[in-house]
Amino acid sequence: MNGDPTDAQDIIPRVDKLARSVSNSWNSLSTSPSLAFHPPQLRRPSTVTKPLKPFETKNIKVLLLENVNKTGQDLLREQGYIVEALKTSLPEDQLIEKIRDVHVVGIRSKTRLTAKVLREARNLIVIGAFCIGTNQVDLEFAAENGITVFNSPFSNSRSVAELTIAEIIMLSRQAGDRSNELHNGTWNKVSAGCWEVRGKTLGIIGYGHIGSQLSVLAETMGMGVVYYDVLTMMAMGTARQLPSLEKVLAEADFITLHVPELPETKNMIGEKQFSQMKDGSYLINNSRGTVVDIPSLINASRSGKLAGAALDVYPNEPGGNGDYFNNDLNTWTTDLRSLKNIILTPHIGGSTEEAQSAIGAEVGHALVSYVNEGSTTGAVNMPEVSVRTTEPNLARVLFIHQNVPGVLRKVNTILADYNIERQKSESRGKVAYLMLEVSGAGEQEIATLYKELESVQACIRTRVLY
Ligand SMILES: NC(=O)c1ccc[n+]([C@@H]2O[C@H](COP(=O)([O-])OP(=O)(O)OC[C@H]3O[C@@H](n4cnc5c(N)ncnc54)[C@H](O)[C@@H]3O)[C@@H](O)[C@H]2O)c1
Repeated sequence: MNGDPTDAQDIIPRVDKLARSVSNSWNSLSTSPSLAFHPPQLRRPSTVTKPLKPFETKNIKVLLLENVNKTGQDLLREQGYIVEALKTSLPEDQLIEKIRDVHVVGIRSKTRLTAKVLREARNLIVIGAFCIGTNQVDLEFAAENGITVFNSPFSNSRSVAELTIAEIIMLSRQAGDRSNELHNGTWNKVSAGCWEVRGKTLGIIGYGHIGSQLSVLAETMGMGVVYYDVLTMMAMGTARQLPSLEKVLAEADFITLHVPELPETKNMIGEKQFSQMKDGSYLINNSRGTVVDIPSLINASRSGKLAGAALDVYPNEPGGNGDYFNNDLNTWTTDLRSLKNIILTPHIGGSTEEAQSAIGAEVGHALVSYVNEGSTTGAVNMPEVSVRTTEPNLARVLFIHQNVPGVLRKVNTILADYNIERQKSESRGKVAYLMLEVSGAGEQEIATLYKELESVQACIRTRVLY
């Protein structure tokens, strides 16, 4: 969609929308922040350069589950929101009971926000997933009901890169095995098959957030770096992009995987790829468990083709901590555990205090920016819209609507007598988001404007900040 009224066509009748009370009320939730907003240092800078007029931020209720990091909690409390923070997730019935009341919910990976739960969330305007993935949220249902979702996909990149560097050195010194032996009382001082990493070649598969950080760290240790990515990526330092996976496998002493989980990356390292690697090379997988065919890895390790491996991720992973890493989980687990020079870690690549804090800050800022300004920059399920404001006495209208023909014609008719200072519209799938600012409107006019916009058939949600 765009802001051109000449695009207007017939309006398709609106689908039933959820009954919403506070969040649809122009004069309760939908007003502007009382506290000066400090721009985040992360990926979502504030787009508002003037503070909008004061409003009661203490009306905004926030439910945080699963022990959301304190940095995130503090950011929301500083805004004056009423924050209830619980250490665990909630059973569905209790979740439904609590979520009815709140405007903002913060979760991590265990809370499932299904359509059934969200249907009850009558006041909810935004979800903060204080984690990487968003599989636990019905994103489409949320979007179609005007609920924006934010997450933090890259806050732990450095943590993964550092773990990988540690593993490169530990593997090349067989330090995991020596440590295990000594834990069992065996002194085994050897140098055969142990190497410095200086002068060796690291092959990075997937040169994104993690792969490129790793590239810099590896070069500072004196390693040469080659990489393969489906996209042409600018090299860091003196690293070299090679045209194929095979070429990287043939050249590198250490191969490390940093690709996403996709149909194309499933078992991308299998029997054929192990045969293309140098004899005595090392493999590290801190990406996703489906990327490596583990039975082939077991064979390559037993045959001596691989001198060592480190795995942080597995095709099936336990839901909680405990004695679950056995053949019930994956049929080859016992064989894997029996291999020499293999470091096995329980998906801790991104699990550091710094990463948790960065996630808290990033998602916290995104929630504040959405509640106070309507900015959807970085949202997972909404069109990305933000507007920069510099002038006083403006009312900002946030209009989430079905992405169907004719809506903007209707909106522009409603706005015909207002002075529109700026407007921006984006669509994503079935949902579109219009943000605009009008000048010179008094409280009564804003109330009328709100009501008229809410009566547009394709309206999903209207908020007015002033
Ligand atoms: N172990 C952990 O705790 C942990 C933590 C964070 C991320 N991860 C995982 O690490 C992986 C990388 O994360 P990221 O943040 O660097 O992702 P990213 O999206 O920034 O980078 C991934 C890169 O892989 C490339 N790519 C995609 N398909 C490819 C293919 N078939 N062959 C070669 N390159 C391909 C992409 O072009 C991109 O440059 C992801 O799978 C992520 O889930 C694991």
